[in-house]
Amino acid sequence: MKKELVELVTDQINFELESAYLYLSMATWFVENGYPGSGKWMEKQANEEVGHAMKMTHYLQEVNVRVLMRPIAAGATEFPSFLEVFKLSLEHEKKVSARIAKIYEAAVEAKDHALASLYLYFVNEQVEEEAQLVDIITRLEKVPTPIGIMMMDDRLGNRA
Ligand SMILES: [Fe+2]
Ligand SMILES: [Fe+2]
Repeated sequence: MKKELVELVTDQINFELESAYLYLSMATWFVENGYPGSGKWMEKQANEEVGHAMKMTHYLQEVNVRVLMRPIAAGATEFPSFLEVFKLSLEHEKKVSARIAKIYEAAVEAKDHALASLYLYFVNEQVEEEAQLVDIITRLEKVPTPIGIMMMDDRLGNRA
């Protein structure tokens, strides 16, 4: 595997874990502020990010590249409002999507088809990630009241 591709994937593993750390921070904010459903939802989101990091780590292991773990940056710990957490999360996912697209393009350019295939999976995964946040934000903006927020919190608490 090309050195610059290893670098990109290693960096992305770190970013997925940074995403998990940020979402865990959001989850604890939700719980602290009386939104247990959203706390549960965000915790699951954090677990998904760890899953993404693991999928990338396992790939590198399969092609005999050792992953060197780096420090994980701490994200925000305070948030202005319930809605704002989801808006920040969507902004963060857009950053992830741009990075994933860049890695996919680099893999295609290097004719590393297996890596391109792995990242094509993540390109599609990101469509879903962004769509679910857009859906939450749109619904909240339709009913921007405490009742709307409580209904959303209940709904998010039902995430399987
Ligand atoms: Fe992810
Ligand atoms: Fe994500």
